[in-house]
Amino acid sequence: MLRRVLGGRRGGALPPRPPARAAADQTPPDLARERSKAVTSFYHQPAIDVAAEKPSVRLTPTTMLYSGRSQDGSHILKSARYLQQELPVRIAHRIKGFRSLPFIIGCNPTILHVHELYIRAFQKLSEFPPIQARGDEARYCALLRQLLEDHKDVVTLLAEGLRECRRHIQDERLLRPFLDKTLTSRLGMRMLAAHHLALHEDKPDFVGIICTRLSPKKLIEKWVDFARRLCEHQYGNAPRVRINGHVAARFPFIPLPLDYVLPELLKNAMRATMESHLDTPYNVPDIVVTIANNDIDLVIRISDRGGGIPHELLDKVTEYHFSTAEASAQDPRLGGPFRNLLDLSNSGQAGPMHGFGFGLPTSRAYAEYLGGSLCLQSLQGVGTDVYLRLRHIDGKGESFRI
Ligand SMILES: Nc1ncnc2c1ncn2[C@@H]1O[C@H](COP(=O)(O)OP(=O)(O)OP(=O)(O)O)[C@@H](O)[C@H]1O
Ligand SMILES: [Mg+2]
Repeated sequence: MLRRVLGGRRGGALPPRPPARAAADQTPPDLARERSKAVTSFYHQPAIDVAAEKPSVRLTPTTMLYSGRSQDGSHILKSARYLQQELPVRIAHRIKGFRSLPFIIGCNPTILHVHELYIRAFQKLSEFPPIQARGDEARYCALLRQLLEDHKDVVTLLAEGLRECRRHIQDERLLRPFLDKTLTSRLGMRMLAAHHLALHEDKPDFVGIICTRLSPKKLIEKWVDFARRLCEHQYGNAPRVRINGHVAARFPFIPLPLDYVLPELLKNAMRATMESHLDTPYNVPDIVVTIANNDIDLVIRISDRGGGIPHELLDKVTEYHFSTAEASAQDPRLGGPFRNLLDLSNSGQAGPMHGFGFGLPTSRAYAEYLGGSLCLQSLQGVGTDVYLRLRHIDGKGESFRI
């Protein structure tokens, strides 16, 4: 198998192959043929090619909100049938992305493993029988849950695998579009799957994953607590955070992407604050978060007094894998395994403060995917202001699609 040939280490998605002769019996041409068959089986999968030609049908949050309720529960079956059509198409598009990677990257065992995870997900979802009744839908939910779990470490694996390839590929323009696309499409699929699963729940103020009256202040406070705990654990103290602006605002919104972006931005601000005040760790300046709510978007500004981002690094900090962790007095990578921060955040565990160089580029890609933006203003020598803009989903203005 290609995986074995290339030193891969995990279970594979390739269809079972007839038992091979013992390696000792095989002549070199046999082995070469065996290898090339395995390689082509990654590329020759007609069902994937057909699905990859179909366009993806993206939904507006308003559609998700209004089709997320019905008296007789028919919306649940409709939602499952939509996913059954849509998910294989999106996965096939991503498999095409893996196939288009430069050979040296595509052959990296970790990247190959993620590629296989996508092929396996495509097969499982495509083989699922048509969803006719409640029982089918319940089994489909179980499959969605299993896939969410199987794919939970994908961001970490991609970061790890591509970091290993970095020395072969210096050109940022090659990897960035692949990562932006793979990560945002993953976010979209996870949002759709989580939305479908959540339609079964009866949570006040929620329709699926959409909160009908979200308080940005409350959500920010939740992630401030999380980031402060992490910061205290690492630096012995944490800056206080003041929240001002439209603190009483409430509106329909999807909190899930903010659950990734907010902890990343807050951790960065806290790390910069602590590391620029190493002599006075018990007397550090506050971080100020300002909420601005308007007809078009929600703006969250995070201002720290952590010394700012030097001129020469400003363009680099939003590149994948760029991190000043090595230079840090507290390089967290010395202490623990490489973990997916979102999963850590969601599980409430304390993860590292910094070190992977994925926080800013991933946050920016997510913000842009959701029709918003992430901009940094550095006051070199003083601090940094990060502006996160996210479009409203109330259907009044032009909306993004998930
Ligand atoms: N508020 C800030 N003030 C000063 N420097 C910052 C700030 N935010 C980010 N940076 C710089 O940008 C770099 C990249 O940030 P990014 O969040 O992408 O990666 P990281 O924090 O090093 O690792 P992680 O993947 O864990 O987030 C950081 O290493 C740091 O040097
Ligand atoms: Mg970071």
